Amino acid sequence: MLISTSFLSSKNLIHDLVELDKTDTDYIHVDIMDGKFVKKKTMPFKEMRNIYKYTNKRLDVHLMVKNPKKYIEDYASLNTEYISFHIESDENIEKNLQLIKEYGIKSGLAISPDTEIKELVPYLPLLDLVLVMSVEPGAGGQDFIVKTKDKIKELKILLSEYNSDVKISVDGGVNDRTKEYCTDCDILVSGSYIINGDDLQKKIDSLR
Ligand code: DX5
Ligand code: ZN
Repeated sequence: MLISTSFLSSKNLIHDLVELDKTDTDYIHVDIMDGKFVKKKTMPFKEMRNIYKYTNKRLDVHLMVKNPKKYIEDYASLNTEYISFHIESDENIEKNLQLIKEYGIKSGLAISPDTEIKELVPYLPLLDLVLVMSVEPGAGGQDFIVKTKDKIKELKILLSEYNSDVKISVDGGVNDRTKEYCTDCDILVSGSYIINGDDLQKKIDSLR
């Protein structure tokens, strides 16, 4: 199982990034919020980009924003493996997925708890990843919504019907107990469970 560590709940960003760099986390999950798609707002890119000098890990960017285009352009300039934006966002989805691919970055669509899996069907040919939200987007430290396990199963079946090799990632409330709901996933995103502890590597090991 691949692990993508979110530092949304970090109280000391640079310290935690330096510590995470010493672990074998596969990605750093970067949560970006615009104050419109979700209530909270993250720092502007010109401040954010300085933080990533402290890690050599590839970034897994999650855009919780209404208008993804300008964020895609910004985050494409970093050491980015995936950029995912929400299927519930406002701009043209195909165009934004194509834009990500033009930068040579893997494209993802994030899907909020109330959105149905079948909405993804038209976009499957343009996707590398589906980021299934197991909490309402907008904050770390929430409880895993248990019915997400049915959505993951439904997605897995859908992908096999379409003979698709799109990867499945799950994001929100993932810990050593809730990981049992996510066995059909390729990537687990976990934030507060990993960050709120002394031994980050041990926490990561417990999720693999
Ligand atoms: C929620 C974010 C998640 C979250 C993960 O809006 O997209 O990435 O911060 O953190 P935990 O694991 O604390 O739910
Ligand atoms: Zn996220």
